[in-house]
Amino acid sequence: MKGIVFREFIDMVERTFGEEMVDSIISSSELESGGVYTTVGTYDHTELVTLVVALSGETDLPVDALVEAFGNYLFGRFLELFPIFFSHATSFEFLDTIHDIVHVEVMKLYPDATLPDFVSEIKDNGKTLHFEYHSPRHFADLAVGLMKGAFEHWNETVTIESKDISQGEKQIILFICTLQD
Ligand code: HEM
Repeated sequence: MKGIVFREFIDMVERTFGEEMVDSIISSSELESGGVYTTVGTYDHTELVTLVVALSGETDLPVDALVEAFGNYLFGRFLELFPIFFSHATSFEFLDTIHDIVHVEVMKLYPDATLPDFVSEIKDNGKTLHFEYHSPRHFADLAVGLMKGAFEHWNETVTIESKDISQGEKQIILFICTLQD
C-alpha cells in the first residue's frame, strides 16, 4: 500500500487523538518499515491493519469503525488533493468513475499501487447504485467510509445495504446504495 495512505492515517490519528497516541501505536507495533512512511514509498498493507488494531486497543473503539472513520477522513483529503475528480452532479455518478477513471489515473501516478476492483451500475433512474468491491486486502470498511464521505459531500441521504459474496481469499462485497427523497 502506498505511503500516502499511511501518512494520511497517521495525520488522522494525530489530529483526533494527539501526537502521543501516534508514538504509542507505532512503538507497540512490530512494523517492518519501523513506522516511517514516505508518500511515494510502498509498504505491506498489513502494517495499516497492525496500526489500526493497536489504535483499537488504546481507544476501545472497534477496528471496523476505525477503518470506516479513516475512509471518511480520506475522502476529505482526496477532495483537497485531487479536486479534478469531483466535478460530478451526484455521488453515484462520481462513484461510477472510481474503477474506470479515478483508480486508472492513480495507477499512472503510482504504478505499484494495489487497488481494489469495483463493478458499478446505476439503476432506477439514478436512485440506486450497485457498487461491488473486490480485493484480497479486505478493506471494504475503508470503501464504506469513502462512500459515506461522498454522500455527505453531495448532501445526499443514502442507505447502504451490504451483501458479503466473498470467494476464497478475495473479499467481495456488494453495496446496494439507495438514495432517499
Ligand atoms: C470515494 C471513492 C473511492 C473509493 C470507494 C475507493 C476505494 C479504495 C479502497 C477500498 C482502497 C484500498 C485498497 C484495497 O481495498 O485493495 C483504495 C486505495 C487507494 N485509492 Fe481509492 N477509492 C476512492 C477514491 C479515490 C480517490 C478520489 C483517489 C485519489 C485520486 C484514490 C486513490 C487511492 C490510492 C492512492 C489508494 C492506495 C493504493 C495503494 O496503496 O497501493 N481513491 N481505494
